[in-house]
Amino acid sequence: MCGIFGYTGGRDAQALVIQGLKRLEYRGYDSSGVAVQNGFDRIHIRKTQGKIKKLEELLAKHPLKGKTAIGHTRWATHGVPNEENAHPHLDNESQIAVVHNGIIENFGDLKKTLEGEGARFQSQTDTEVIVHLVAKYYKGNLENAVRRALKDLKGTYAIAVISSKEPGKIVAAKMDSPLVLGLAKNGNFLASDVSALLDHTDDVIFVENGEMLILTENTYRISDRADKPVNRKPVKIAWDREQAQKGGHPHFMLKEIFEQPAILTAILKERVIGGKIRFDELKIPAARLARAKRIVIIACGTSYHAGLVAKYAFEELARIPVSVDTSSEFRYRDPLVGPDTLVIAISQSGETADTLAGVREGKSKKACTMTVCNVLASSLAREAHGVIYTHAGSEIAVASTKAYTAQMAILYLLAIQLGVLRKKLAPKRVQQLLKEFLHLPLLMQRVLDDYKKDQKEWAQNARDFNRRYHDQLERYFSTDPEKRKRSPSGFFLYLGRNINYPNALEGALKLKEISYIPAEGYPAGEMKHGPIALIDENPWVICIAPQSATYDKMLSNIQEIRARGGCIVPIVTEGDTEIPKLSPMYVMEIPKVSELFSPFLTVVPLQLLAYCVAREFGEDIDQPRNLAKSVTVE
Ligand code: F6R
Repeated sequence: MCGIFGYTGGRDAQALVIQGLKRLEYRGYDSSGVAVQNGFDRIHIRKTQGKIKKLEELLAKHPLKGKTAIGHTRWATHGVPNEENAHPHLDNESQIAVVHNGIIENFGDLKKTLEGEGARFQSQTDTEVIVHLVAKYYKGNLENAVRRALKDLKGTYAIAVISSKEPGKIVAAKMDSPLVLGLAKNGNFLASDVSALLDHTDDVIFVENGEMLILTENTYRISDRADKPVNRKPVKIAWDREQAQKGGHPHFMLKEIFEQPAILTAILKERVIGGKIRFDELKIPAARLARAKRIVIIACGTSYHAGLVAKYAFEELARIPVSVDTSSEFRYRDPLVGPDTLVIAISQSGETADTLAGVREGKSKKACTMTVCNVLASSLAREAHGVIYTHAGSEIAVASTKAYTAQMAILYLLAIQLGVLRKKLAPKRVQQLLKEFLHLPLLMQRVLDDYKKDQKEWAQNARDFNRRYHDQLERYFSTDPEKRKRSPSGFFLYLGRNINYPNALEGALKLKEISYIPAEGYPAGEMKHGPIALIDENPWVICIAPQSATYDKMLSNIQEIRARGGCIVPIVTEGDTEIPKLSPMYVMEIPKVSELFSPFLTVVPLQLLAYCVAREFGEDIDQPRNLAKSVTVE
C-alpha cells in the first residue's frame, strides 16, 4: 500500500510527479503530497488529505517550481489520514524530505531516542523517524546518511529521499516493498510500480531488497548492502497503455467486467495451441510438476476465491489433493509442505505481502513454488520458482473482476495439463474440455449482452434494494418499540454449492467492498447450521443455482428460505422453470454450461449486481474507502 514516485531531470518535476501519483493512486488514496527541490536552502512541500485531484488543485493554486521531486499517495497504517500524516516528511530544518511505502516496526523506540536528541516530530507516522535519522547522520553526503540510517530501521520500506543541499539527486532504498527505476531520455524516474513509469519509458530496472539507488538527471547507480555496485541491465516492458483508460464506460470496474470474454479468448489463444496446453514462460519442467504429490494454493481476497474454485478443478481433472489457504494463515502456521508439494501463489498484483511471505516459507521448506499473477515482473513473479501470467491487462478498479476469471482460466488449463501429465485424463476428455473452454467466452459475452439489454431492469432492482435497505435500517434503529420488532437484517446472504460455493464468497466480497453493505457467503448446505436464523423477509438471499449435480439440493434450500419469507435472488440456467416459479422476482440467468465451467458464468451477474447496487447507493466504485489495490503490508 502507498505509492512513491520520484523524478530528476530537465523537466517540470511537479507535473510529472502528479501524473505518476495518479497512476499509483490504486495503492492508496487517503492523502498525498509532493516535495520539490528548487535550489533554495529548504525543501518545499505541498500535501493534503484526500485524493490526488485535491493535491493537483492545491498545486495549481500554489505551484512548486523545480526539476527534482518526490511524491507519495497514502494508505494509512500509523496515524489517521490527515495533512500532517501525509508524506513527504521533513527534518527540523526542512532540508531533507522522505517518502516511504512500508512499515517501520521499531519506530516507537527510534522516536523516543530521536526526540531526546532534539528531533521535532510533526506527525503520528512511523515514517517520520526515517527523515530525522537521515538528518542525524547527515555529514554532507546524502547517500552515506541514508545508508547509515537504514542500519537502524527494522521493517519494510521503499523510500526516496532528497536534500536541499544536494541539488538534482534522489537517494532511494528498498526492503520488501517494491521499487522500480525508469530510465528516460530527459531524466530518471523511480516508482512503486512499473505502470507509473510507462508514460515516460519502457526501460526499467527492478531494485532488489537491500539495494540503494542514487539518481541524478543523467546517471543512476545501484549498490548493495556492502556498497558494492550492482550491474543490472534494464528490461523492456510491453504493456498496453490503452488498458488504463475507461473506454467509454462510466467506471473502470464496469469496463473490466466487460473485458472478461476478450481476456478469456486471449488466454485460450495464447495457451492452447494445436490441442496442447502451453505455458512457455513457466520455468518449472513438466516432470517436476508431475512429481508433485499435492498442491497447496495460497492467496488473499478474490485471488483466494479463485484458488477455492481451482481446488475443485485440480481434484476433478488431475486427481491430486489440494488445500487452499489464505496467505496470512499459511505463513505463520509452520505449514506441512516439502519437496513433494507444489505451492501455487495466486495474485493479481504480485505484491501482496502475505502471499510473498508464503512463497518464501514454501521455498524455505524446499517446496516447488509458482505464481499465477497479472503484473509483469512483480515481486512474486521474480521470487517464485515459476510464473504463469494471466495477461489480463492493468486492473484499475480496486474491486477485482477480470483478474479473477483470468486466474481461474489459467488454473483450469493447468489442471488439465496436470491431468494429462498424471495420466488422469484421456485424450478424448481433454479435447472435450478444451472444446467447451473455447466456447466459454461466447457464453460469457451473452450474459453481458443480456445485462446491456436489461440495464433498466437492473437499475430498477438496485433501486428496490436501496429503498428496502434504508427502510429496514430505519426500522432497526427506530425508537418506536413496535417498529423495532424486526431483526437487524438489511444484509445480503450468498449461497452456493460445490464449485459455485467460492462464487458465493466472491459475490459477497464484491458487494461489501464497493457498497459497504454487510454480506456473507456460505455453502448452501451450511444454511441450516446457523445462517437460517437470520432469515425473515428482510435479507436478500442470492442463490447460485445453475444446473448441476446439486441442483435439487439448492431447490430445497430455496424452498426453505421461501417458507421463512426470505427475498430470493436466484441465478439459474436459461430454461429453468422450477426456481423462477418459486421466486419470479430478480431472476438472473446464465446460458447452459457444464457444472465444471459454470463459475465463469455465475460470477458475472454477481459482479454486475454489486456494481449496480453500489452505483445506486452513489458510492465511489473504483476507489472504495479504506481499500487499496496492492496490499504490500501485512
Ligand atoms: C477484492 C480484491 C482483494 C484482492 C486481494 C489480493 O476485490 O481486490 O481482495 O483480491 O487483496 O490481491 P492480489 O490478488 O493482488 O494478491
